[in-house]
Amino acid sequence: MSSVLVAREGHLAVLTVNRPDKLNALDNDTIRALHRAVDELSADAGVGVIVLTGAGEKAFVAGADISVLAKQGVLEGRANSVLGQRLMQALEDSPKPTIAAVNGFALGGGLELALACDLRFAAAGAKLGLPEVSLGILPGYGGTQRLPRLVGMGMALQLILTGDPIPAEEALRIGLVNGVFPLAELMEGVRKVAARIVSRGPTALALAKEAARRGAALGLAEGLALESDLFGLASSTAEMKEGMQAFLEKRKPGWLRT
Ligand code: COA
Repeated sequence: MSSVLVAREGHLAVLTVNRPDKLNALDNDTIRALHRAVDELSADAGVGVIVLTGAGEKAFVAGADISVLAKQGVLEGRANSVLGQRLMQALEDSPKPTIAAVNGFALGGGLELALACDLRFAAAGAKLGLPEVSLGILPGYGGTQRLPRLVGMGMALQLILTGDPIPAEEALRIGLVNGVFPLAELMEGVRKVAARIVSRGPTALALAKEAARRGAALGLAEGLALESDLFGLASSTAEMKEGMQAFLEKRKPGWLRT
């Protein structure tokens, strides 16, 4: 059985980390398989939104596989970190909107996977945290960088330095997740949000994500210039003509995806 399942539901692609007996812990083969799947779906014009979730009812992903990390020396440790970081960057750089459906424990690399997605929704009862310091390491798949950018330095350092997970409701309060659903309703809730996104212009979505993602690493003036350039680019598309024509004709736009 593959450690990563890919399911297509119309314009939605659902990636499921499938090692439920290990609470979906990420070993290196799983990281590589996820990276390949993200690259393939990112290049597929028929895909509108990518959703990531975990198999079973207990865990989204309970972290990097500790049995792999336990054997690492200095150079392997660095290589393991880079391998995971590249997957997270591929998600962040994907032109497709990405959503993490956090159906249970999102710990360590699991939370870092969710952090690399554009939106996060959690099941009530899920626990989210970065417990690495309790293992004598630090988050290595981007957690020390993405968490402070998302929730601010104070809350991020509380999670990073205590290693204690927080419940889904607290994650919602601090802005770590966008919403919380009862577990049985999580995927339905995520599908509804995904459907809203899929109803929008696909090129506009990719350019808007790029403006926000690339702009976050820039100063305000550079970010605004980037936004104007991408706005100009959007103005050259058939998609813009269709979107505006549809508004003027009081009909739904018909987007081109292929
Ligand atoms: N790496 C490797 N295996 C893991 C794992 C991880 N990150 N998280 C869970 N597992 C495995 C357990 O070893 C166990 O395997 P086994 O049945 O072969 O012994 C199985 O998944 C079930 O986990 P278990 O610990 O028995 O479940 P639990 O309900 O008692 O506890 C957790 C759940 C999430 C609290 C606990 O598994 C845990 O703390 N996991 C590690 C979390 C972590 O530190 N992640 C960051 C890693 S950098």
